[in-house]
Amino acid sequence: MAHNLLKGKKGIIFGALDEKSLAWRTALRCVEEGAEIVLTNAPVALRMGEINKLAEICKAPVIPADVTITDDLKNLFTKSMEHFGGKIDFVLHSVGMSLNVRKGRSYTDLDYDFSLKTLNISALSLHRVLQTAYQMDAINDWGSVVALTYIAAQRAFPDYSEMADAKAMLESVARSFGYHYGIKNKVRVNTVSQSPTPTTAGSGVKGFGGFIGYAEKMSPLGNASADNCADYLVTLFSDMTRMVTMQNLYHDGGFSFTGVSNAIMDALDKE
Ligand SMILES: NC(=O)c1ccc[n+]([C@@H]2O[C@H](COP(=O)([O-])OP(=O)(O)OC[C@H]3O[C@@H](n4cnc5c(N)ncnc54)[C@H](O)[C@@H]3O)[C@@H](O)[C@H]2O)c1
Repeated sequence: MAHNLLKGKKGIIFGALDEKSLAWRTALRCVEEGAEIVLTNAPVALRMGEINKLAEICKAPVIPADVTITDDLKNLFTKSMEHFGGKIDFVLHSVGMSLNVRKGRSYTDLDYDFSLKTLNISALSLHRVLQTAYQMDAINDWGSVVALTYIAAQRAFPDYSEMADAKAMLESVARSFGYHYGIKNKVRVNTVSQSPTPTTAGSGVKGFGGFIGYAEKMSPLGNASADNCADYLVTLFSDMTRMVTMQNLYHDGGFSFTGVSNAIMDALDKE
């Protein structure tokens, strides 16, 4: 059900790869709620062509940008403002990639060149997006920027590897930049810490099936789905959450504050 929460708002959505992507689900919900959007992804991801289906449904242009290249981001903001005929109201950073995880390197055997690329793509990129927008004055007063993160930034998850370090940095960037952008333009910057969700990036983590099943059993409400995530993000882009900034917001069915659940104890009791 739509409530027109984003009527008149204009947003840029990074990271819709296929219909399972958190960004894909969010793009659909934002448009349902009345927003106009621009879609963007790395040129290599766009070559898959999937995003054109989403672009058609959302009546959105697709503007390529690699989040590690400042000129790409400048071009993205310039073209988006031309398209909208004005500044942007919200940005979703839904980008992540772990080179070591992808190449099967464990946390005790990291390739540091891979690690630097992971940090650049998954964490520093939020700073790059924010700094580009800040210097171009591309976001309207009271705008909202959200990046997606995972609780491995606070707790040890053995197979999440160097991505845990990237998420800790991502959350730190949101906090630190949130201060400066708040002072300058009342722009808010938050991270949303989402339940494990079966997407391309999520499923890349070793033993993802066990991981998602464990989280489901540990969360009083169960795991938050991609569509649940999209709903929550709509509220954060809307004017209903204007005073929320510099936060890491858990969207995980209660996982983060549960010590142990009966479902997990029952499963272990049977062993
Ligand atoms: N799926 C989960 O379990 C889960 C849980 C918590 C947080 N997250 C986070 O949500 C975000 C979105 O991931 P997803 O699960 O929807 O997976 P996904 O694979 O659908 O999305 C990841 C996106 O990052 C994009 N990307 C990678 N390198 C890029 C680059 N250099 N420039 C621009 N874009 C680039 C990919 O093309 C892809 O669209 C990520 O930050 C991820 O860490 C995912």
